[in-house]
Amino acid sequence: MPDARTVAQHYGHGELVDAIRRGIERLGKSVADVQIDDLAPVDEFHVGGRIATEAFLDQLGIDESHHVLDVGCGLGGGSRFAAHRYGCRVTGVDLTPEYVSAGKLLCEWVTLDARIQLQVEDATALPQRADTFDRAYMMHVGMNVADKPSLAAELYRVVKPGGRVGIYDIMKSSDGELTFPVPWAMRPDGSSVSSPATYKAALEEAGFHLVAERDRREFALEFFADLQAKVAHASGPPPLGLHILMGETASVKVKNMIENISRGLLAPVELVAEKRR
Ligand SMILES: C[S@@+](CC[C@H](N)C(=O)[O-])C[C@H]1O[C@@H](n2cnc3c(N)ncnc32)[C@H](O)[C@@H]1O
Repeated sequence: MPDARTVAQHYGHGELVDAIRRGIERLGKSVADVQIDDLAPVDEFHVGGRIATEAFLDQLGIDESHHVLDVGCGLGGGSRFAAHRYGCRVTGVDLTPEYVSAGKLLCEWVTLDARIQLQVEDATALPQRADTFDRAYMMHVGMNVADKPSLAAELYRVVKPGGRVGIYDIMKSSDGELTFPVPWAMRPDGSSVSSPATYKAALEEAGFHLVAERDRREFALEFFADLQAKVAHASGPPPLGLHILMGETASVKVKNMIENISRGLLAPVELVAEKRR
């Protein structure tokens, strides 16, 4: 069962900002002219990257008047995308201090820091007052959160009545032993993957009602097939990519993800739920 220290240790890199800066330079750019689209390959740490973010967040009806919570924001790629696309304000919270400090710099580099605030917080014990956010979402975070009822209760508390919450997580599709390491855990004790039924029960128990559900298994398999084709034709990793975040075990983690999804054990799933007025 992952705790805060295990999570921060798992995702901690040590020299993340330097690694990203080197990647930007390899693109022929600098922190003065880098754009959010340049950063997307490294700062969208979920299956399908930016394409998946867009398809997921577009369901939440976010507009420029909204204050949005990005739960487990990582480097804040989703936060920057949301602020840029919808013109909203975003607060991102994450357990990994290195991601939050690097994410703040990335927001400054692309001049979105005035509208995005990133902070180190635990999603199951948020400091924000009740009814603070118009929308909340999380992408690929719940696999590290054992206590889904507390997570759902916190989301319900901080979202305003009439507000929506979106979840895009890797969920358990059937029983069976997963192959590790995976991107969110080196071993089974770092993983808390749950079924869509468990998420839905937690959301409903908290008070939400479900408005949409979409299994993204086929999308994921196509995404990985495309990725493998690109890797086969490339002479090495691209300047910026998730290999920077996943480190030396990146290729085995991706291979195991493909295996776990292909065997029908895991699938990325989107859930959208609403807090009644
Ligand atoms: C796979 S990354 C996804 C990051 C980001 N959502 C994205 O899609 O790029 C999972 C993130 O969840 C964060 N996390 C895990 N458990 C958390 C918790 N209880 N509260 C806040 N963040 C958490 C980790 O620190 C990590 O940054």
